[in-house]
Amino acid sequence: MNPVLAELHEKARAVLDPVHYDFFTGGAGDEVVLADNEAAFRRRALLPRVLRGKGNSPEFPVLISPTAFHKLAHPDGELATARAAEGATLVSSTASTVPIADVVAAATGPVWFQLYLQPDPEVTEELVRRAERAGCAALVVTVDSPVFGRHRRDIAHGFHDLPAGLAAENMRDLPGTTGLRKIEMAPFTWADIDRVRELTSLPLWLKGVLHPDDAVLAVGHGAAGIFVSNHGGRQLDVVPAALDALPAVVDAVGGRIPVVLDGGVRSGADIALALALGASAAGIGRPVLWGLAADGEAGVRKVLDALRDEFEHVLALCGGQLSRDMVVVRC
Ligand SMILES: Cc1cc2nc3c(=O)[nH]c(=O)nc-3n(C[C@H](O)[C@H](O)[C@H](O)COP(=O)(O)O)c2cc1C
Repeated sequence: MNPVLAELHEKARAVLDPVHYDFFTGGAGDEVVLADNEAAFRRRALLPRVLRGKGNSPEFPVLISPTAFHKLAHPDGELATARAAEGATLVSSTASTVPIADVVAAATGPVWFQLYLQPDPEVTEELVRRAERAGCAALVVTVDSPVFGRHRRDIAHGFHDLPAGLAAENMRDLPGTTGLRKIEMAPFTWADIDRVRELTSLPLWLKGVLHPDDAVLAVGHGAAGIFVSNHGGRQLDVVPAALDALPAVVDAVGGRIPVVLDGGVRSGADIALALALGASAAGIGRPVLWGLAADGEAGVRKVLDALRDEFEHVLALCGGQLSRDMVVVRC
C-alpha cells in the first residue's frame, strides 16, 4: 500500500467513531472478497519494457468511486471531497449527505452522478433530473445491488440509520422516501436501463459488472462505459476479485466502450496493473474516505496526490508503456 494511504488509514481509524469506521471499512459476509480485491494485485507482477524513452503518460487515470455518507467521515462531507477532486472525476453517490447540486458547485473537476434505480420510476426520473440540473457529466447506474449486502460489522453494532441531523440529501424530500437512510433497492432488469437511457442524453455507465456476457449486454443497451466492480466486497462475498474479473470483461467489450476497474486499488502500481490489464482508469473507494476522515479536503488531496505521484513514477520505470503482455503471475 502507498505509505501516505496507510498513514491516513491509521489516522482515520483513530479519529472515527468505531461504528462509522467499521461501516466505511467493512465488507459483506466473511469479508473474503474485501481481502481478495487487494490480494489480487499482489498476485501479479509487471514485466517492464526497457529502452523506450519516457513513453506517453496518460492523464491521471483515476476516478473517485461513489461512496455514501461522507459527513460521517468529516463535517464538510462531500463538499470537501468535491473540492479536493482536482483532475479526478468524482462519482457522487445517490446516498450523499450533501445535495448533488451543491457537490457539483463545489467541485473543481467533472462530477458524475451514481444512481440507484428506485422502485418508483418517478423517483428515479427526479433523481436523473436533479443530476442533469446540477450539471453532472454522466450517470453511473449501480447494477450489483438488487438487495443490500449483509455487513456483519454493521449488524453487530446495530448500525442501520444515520445520526440525527444527517440525511441522504438527494432522497429525503422525494415521495415515499421519508426515512433518513431510505435508499430502496429492487430487482431491476435491462428494460429499466433502457428506460433511463430514454430519459436522458447523459452518457450512461453501469457499475458492478463482473460477467463478460453482461458486459456485452451493456454495450448492446447503449452503455457509455462500465465499472468492473464487486462494490468493494460489500455485496456477494463469493465473487472474484475485481482485478481477476477484469481481463475477460475487457476481451468481451473489445474496445467498444471504456472499462474502469474498481476495488482494492491502494497504490500507483495497482493503477498501473489495472491499466495494463485493459482498464481505462481505476476507481478509488475507501482510501478517499480515509483521507476525508483523517484531514478533510486536505486529506483527500493527499490521497490523490500520492497516487498520482506514485503512478507516474511506476509508469516511468515501465518505460511509459502498459500492456497485457507485461503482466505475469507472481510465483
Ligand atoms: C462506505 C462505502 C460506501 C459505498 N457506497 C456506495 C454507493 O453509495 N454507491 C455505489 O455504487 N457504490 C458504493 N460503494 C462502493 C464503491 O463505489 C466502490 O465500488 C468500492 O468502494 C471500491 O473498492 P475500494 O473501497 O476497495 O476502493 C461504497 C463503498 C464503501 C466502502
